Amino acid sequence: MSPLLCRPPAISSARLPIAPPQRFSIAAATPKERDRIYQIRHEVYADEIHQHAVNEDGRLHDALDQANVYLVAKWDHELCGFISLTPPAKTPYSVEKYLSREALGLPDTSKLHEIRLLTVRKPWRGSEVATLLMYAAFRWVESHGGEHIVAIGRHELLDLYLRLGLERGGSVIQSGAVTYHLLARSVRALREHLEGFENLMGRLEEKVDWKLSFGFRKPVACFHGGGFFNAIGPRFDHLERSHAIINADVLDAWFPPSPKVLAAVREYLPWVARTSPPTACEGLVEVIAQTRGVSYCNILPGSGSSDLIFRALRHWLTPSSHVLVLDPTYGEYVHVLEQVIGCTVDRFLLSRSDQYEVDMERLEAALAGEYDLVVLVNPNSPTGRYIPRDHLVALLKKAPVSTRIWVDETYIEYTGAAQSLEPFAARSENVIVCKSMSKVYALSGLRAAYLCAGAHQLEALRSITPPWVVSLPAQMAAVEALLDPSYYQARYNETGALRLQLKAGIEALGWDVVPGCANFLLCHLPVPGPSAAQLVEQCRPRGLYLRDAAAMSSQLGSDTIRIAVKDAETNARMLGILTGFF
Ligand SMILES: Cc1ncc(COP(=O)(O)O)c(C=O)c1O
Repeated sequence: MSPLLCRPPAISSARLPIAPPQRFSIAAATPKERDRIYQIRHEVYADEIHQHAVNEDGRLHDALDQANVYLVAKWDHELCGFISLTPPAKTPYSVEKYLSREALGLPDTSKLHEIRLLTVRKPWRGSEVATLLMYAAFRWVESHGGEHIVAIGRHELLDLYLRLGLERGGSVIQSGAVTYHLLARSVRALREHLEGFENLMGRLEEKVDWKLSFGFRKPVACFHGGGFFNAIGPRFDHLERSHAIINADVLDAWFPPSPKVLAAVREYLPWVARTSPPTACEGLVEVIAQTRGVSYCNILPGSGSSDLIFRALRHWLTPSSHVLVLDPTYGEYVHVLEQVIGCTVDRFLLSRSDQYEVDMERLEAALAGEYDLVVLVNPNSPTGRYIPRDHLVALLKKAPVSTRIWVDETYIEYTGAAQSLEPFAARSENVIVCKSMSKVYALSGLRAAYLCAGAHQLEALRSITPPWVVSLPAQMAAVEALLDPSYYQARYNETGALRLQLKAGIEALGWDVVPGCANFLLCHLPVPGPSAAQLVEQCRPRGLYLRDAAAMSSQLGSDTIRIAVKDAETNARMLGILTGFF
């Protein structure tokens, strides 16, 4: 593999023809397994450690078992161990046999779960079963919205509990011949603690057949800009602040939508708000097809390209799929591919020494790699570099038709509408253009986008598109916007001039600015000086929101900032704020 192609070390098991090794399974106990659990409780807590008296029935259970959840670890159908959970309820927790709720000193009992009865049968002691069960119990609480965990841990297992992040609550409890310690921690603190154990988590994940209704891993969301909503208030309490803050962390247009867009939506707003839109966006699709010179069947509408990215990629790809993406690039792609679907993703590394320009020969060689999908963001974010249309078409004609090629043209109008691949994609077998209408038509808040491709690529996606996928104001706005190209062309021309002014101003601060072509600039900060993360923090109290670009790449260092181009007055304000730090 080329040194400039980067592949994650994990080997996709779907590519290996060998049977998966046998693993511990973790599942919720079935009603039938309850009796076996009560027998094992007797074997361990009565016969072995003498916490309870031996009884004739040979079983131990208690009133809490009605409300308790049991999770079990099994090896080839044999029960190796279990753990029990007491969710918040009116009934007391087990620990209340020894301590009052007040003495527990825990903040909110409506979000408090007790973990109890971690039990591992003799043959499996010292294996990973205890850790797996504890982690499963933690994930149970976390995934069910719990905020605090309390437990009493046997003295002999104290080290294990402390290693997993629980903390001693001070009290020591004697029950029969057994000494217990009170343990507690917030779920948030436990999650942070676990973050330091990525290797252990990876090993456990390999060894477990996880049969619970929630994932082994807590699902993560892709990081985006939008931090300025903290200033406005997530419930929009301070919309007046929208005039003062500078949201240069997102790439929304600096200009308003066409006056025709605003007039149409404004005039009919009460009706627009209460009326169901055309079910399949029929009129909008017609206008897109007409203005782009393609047929109706070549267009699939979506509520923003984010909707289309999730809908299409999850429909086409599986964990055994193999995908190539640029690096750096727009972060949602790697998130959906790796975190949501679980594909193997190769990165086509772009380097600072080439100003992040795509080397077409190298890309041509990489495309021969029989990928299921190749994602090309053109112009690319956060670099702002683009591949001219003719070069890209020549390259794509040589790519294997079995490889779907997804070209994200969110920012293409800034290079000239003639640069778009839409008509080419509509005629091709395997090229799909994803067109966001957010950034270049100033419609980010309304949510409208579409795919343009051969009808055969869209057929299956059409059947999984919900009715009314684009809201009525968004459909109306998108139609008006597409019918007013001269207004937008004038704004794109202005953006070019504003970008050059901003670039010159930033360079005067000593930053190294990549020569972008769209409504944003990627910059390397000077050294010595604050890191990107520090600068983002420092600017926030002054109402300036910037984007640390590190998360959009496996290779960008801690010194890259992406900044949106704004109108002349706002650009000057941004430069004024930044001058204070350089
Ligand atoms: C390259 C790229 N693609 C897609 C999107 C998502 O746009 P939308 O608003 O259409 O979901 C963005 C947003 O920043 C982007 O930069």
